[in-house]
Amino acid sequence: MGTQARGGDPVTPQSTTPLVELRDVSKFYGNIKALEGVSLEVHAGGISCVLGDNGAGKSTLIKIIAGLHQHDAGMFSIEGEETRLANPRDALDRGIATVYQDLAVVPLMPVWRNFFLGSEPTKGAGPFKRLDVDLMRRTTRSELLRMGIDLRDVDQPIGTLSGGERQCVAIARAVHFGAKVLVLDEPTAALGVKQSGVVLKYVAAARDAGLGVVLITHNPHHAYLVGDRFVLLKRGAMSGSHVRDEITLDDLTREMAGGSELDQLSHELER
Ligand SMILES: Nc1ncnc2c1ncn2[C@@H]1O[C@H](COP(=O)(O)OP(=O)(O)OP(=O)(O)O)[C@@H](O)[C@H]1O
Ligand SMILES: [Mg+2]
Repeated sequence: MGTQARGGDPVTPQSTTPLVELRDVSKFYGNIKALEGVSLEVHAGGISCVLGDNGAGKSTLIKIIAGLHQHDAGMFSIEGEETRLANPRDALDRGIATVYQDLAVVPLMPVWRNFFLGSEPTKGAGPFKRLDVDLMRRTTRSELLRMGIDLRDVDQPIGTLSGGERQCVAIARAVHFGAKVLVLDEPTAALGVKQSGVVLKYVAAARDAGLGVVLITHNPHHAYLVGDRFVLLKRGAMSGSHVRDEITLDDLTREMAGGSELDQLSHELER
């Protein structure tokens, strides 16, 4: 990939092998068809947005990428190699980090403790082996600062942070632990305008650090602010797939809202 990336134009990442590619992927839950024929590319230094209403299949899609579910048909490849992930650990080992909406944090533990949860560095050996708390504190602070997040105090319980700040910590954590692909399930869904902006800024920072990002959202404005590819899902099927140059925010919003359905609605609401 290296030589091609170097010679290629950085604004057209599609010239390189995608970090993650889904092609014509389908997924059934029993006899419920949650996804059918969905394709998605995620490139290093790019943000692929998945848009769709409730029940459209967005979470199902990322659960396949995150190793939580397996697809029933179609192709899933990581860096050009066709893959079937056994479990979420497998996905992590392949460099895919997923931040779920209900972040898996321990609210009463300090921010630094949550930052290192499951990957705590130790010092000393044998019976003297213990957690390297200083290192964790310092690293958490510096990693957050590197992403432009200036927390008053990394010793405060993570439960005292706002939803937006928690999302930011989770993003910084994925970057620190060397993820290549960052998957975010509706990181701005529960946030106000300002906090959403902050989270989107760090999504962009992760992209600038070279990660490939999958951003799930039902907000076309948020998607268009940072995205360079857009996949629209409707009842499990792909109702649109665009690169940024091909679509305006207006068209994306209309397509997302189901264009003619929205016209019909506004007609009905007019009196
Ligand atoms: N574990 C499951 N078992 C059975 N059906 C499921 C399961 N998970 C999801 N579904 C169904 O699959 C479809 C897609 O669900 P999914 O959670 O992927 O949608 P979504 O786009 O993430 O929706 P939301 O915006 O509400 O989060 C829905 O009809 C849902 O009811
Ligand atoms: Mg969902």
